[in-house]
Amino acid sequence: MKILGILGSPRIDGNTAILLDYALSGARSEQAEVEKVILRKLHFTGCLECEDTRDDGECLINDDMRMLYKKISSSDVIILASPIFFGSLSSQTKMMIDRFQCLWQAKYIRKTYRQEKKRLGGFISVEASKRLDFFENAKAIVKNFFATIDVIYKEELFVSGIEKKGEILEHKDHLERACEMGYRLIKE
Ligand SMILES: Cc1cc2nc3c(=O)[nH]c(=O)nc-3n(C[C@H](O)[C@H](O)[C@H](O)COP(=O)(O)O)c2cc1C
Repeated sequence: MKILGILGSPRIDGNTAILLDYALSGARSEQAEVEKVILRKLHFTGCLECEDTRDDGECLINDDMRMLYKKISSSDVIILASPIFFGSLSSQTKMMIDRFQCLWQAKYIRKTYRQEKKRLGGFISVEASKRLDFFENAKAIVKNFFATIDVIYKEELFVSGIEKKGEILEHKDHLERACEMGYRLIKE
């Protein structure tokens, strides 16, 4: 079983990263291969709206997204983690999601792509304020993304009122919730 964590926070050891690590630790078992991809470390561009897309849903641009397409397609569980930035996902996360437009087109317009395997997914998000609508904004995009890549939106963990780097470590209850979320995703 392959579990992929995708970190969309530019703070590599910030609050979202810590929660994601706890979720991945909950998902870790002898049968599970766990991997984390940090979007900030990848070299990739946003969608360039190429007019000529591929039938298999892969993008024409040759950058680090090629590696991520393969990892995502071979995963059984995907945990996406992004802080709330300006009321929604971080730009790194949104930029990665936009690069699946080619797959969306192959799937829904050309009808040349079909992912056989349904996978499970979870979404983690952290914000400084207590605006639940911000999580709803982010969640709507993630649900759309998951539907495109054939991932069932199964779990979510939203934490409000956390701002400073590493502040989440003072909240053991949230760390436990993250760990349990990871565990549930592999037990489904
Ligand atoms: C560019 C930027 C935009 C932000 N926008 C919001 C926001 O709209 N609402 C909010 O509650 N917090 C906002 N925050 C605060 C972060 O969500 C918060 O500090 C979070 O804990 C950061 O998580 P991280 O450590 O994983 O990056 C913003 C922070 C940054 C850097």
